[in-house]
Amino acid sequence: MIHLSNDTGDQFAQAFTFAQKQVRKLIEKHPLMYPLYTENGMWSKDGPAWTHWCDGFLPGLMWMFVKRSEPESAERAYWAEQAMRYTEPLETRKNDRDVHDLGFLFFTSYYRWWRLTGDPLHKQILIDAGQTLAARFKDKGQYLKSFVADNSLFIDIMMNVGLIFFAARETGDRRLRDIAMRHSHTTRRVLVRGDGSTAQEGIFDTDTGEFLRQTTHQGYRGDSCWSRGLAWSLYGFTTCYEYARDPHFLHTAEACADFYITHAPPDGIAPWDFNAPAENRMLPDTSAAAITASGLLRLCRLTPDPLKGHLYWSTAVHILKSLCEKHLAKSEPKWEGILRGGVYHVNKGLGVDESVMWGEYYFVEALERVLW
Ligand code: GLY
Repeated sequence: MIHLSNDTGDQFAQAFTFAQKQVRKLIEKHPLMYPLYTENGMWSKDGPAWTHWCDGFLPGLMWMFVKRSEPESAERAYWAEQAMRYTEPLETRKNDRDVHDLGFLFFTSYYRWWRLTGDPLHKQILIDAGQTLAARFKDKGQYLKSFVADNSLFIDIMMNVGLIFFAARETGDRRLRDIAMRHSHTTRRVLVRGDGSTAQEGIFDTDTGEFLRQTTHQGYRGDSCWSRGLAWSLYGFTTCYEYARDPHFLHTAEACADFYITHAPPDGIAPWDFNAPAENRMLPDTSAAAITASGLLRLCRLTPDPLKGHLYWSTAVHILKSLCEKHLAKSEPKWEGILRGGVYHVNKGLGVDESVMWGEYYFVEALERVLW
């Protein structure tokens, strides 16, 4: 990979420092609150959540700050104390059978903690969570069901299935690996289209396992491309390829990346849906852009084609520069988040043009990946 220019490196380092300041302010103002999105720029715990999937992102930010502070420093001790304080309450979620989001909850929190310490208790928590997630598998249809119903498969689950691959690898349980493989192949077949765009949800006949149709909750239409779903798919299939080394998963991640690159506007920041109607076509989702940047920085190291690898790396840098130049909340002293212009759920009117906690997380993760 080519190196960042000094100016760009400085810009990204300053954004990383700004992120630390904003997170510190949040935890001082609202101790042990796990917010999803801001309301007029202010973190709020009272906004409707739709589903309970976001509690790992805040401790995940803290674990990144631990890793990037000087060994033995007071700063490192501060972040480690906070990260543990925000991670420990999540342990009980390893048994949560109501959501499909255990990867979001545990890769961000306990996985990062385990990577720093190697503590076998943390590994066991990750394995338990992976086993719980695998219990969502539907033999008829060959997918992990979403939180909304037995007949429903979400593209978002691609960000979580890696936890089953992890549990399979660490325990040697071939049944777990088989579930993760089958789910990923089904998702590829029914939710990723020939042009690399994605649908958010697939509906099955639970009696026969027959796939019936594509639809959406958070996108514009069943046949449109909700940009965050595309980003989850790009990143999720990249993670699956890292675990399974099945070239189909690499090709799928590349197809999603290529769709994003060829359809995003010149600044690289996707609209909330690539087929959004005229009335809100210009509404961006900076969280989709941040997830894409972070996913591309992983994918660029896996693709065997050096030209593609370079394209993915430079696109990620371009997206991050646009986010820093146009969407960083630095210029608005009262704004409590890091990145403006995120979107949670346009159709329900939740968290629209706000800071969203997963956008903060993947933005900082992408900065970390290019800076170190
Ligand atoms: N449903 C997870 C998301 O909002 O992306």
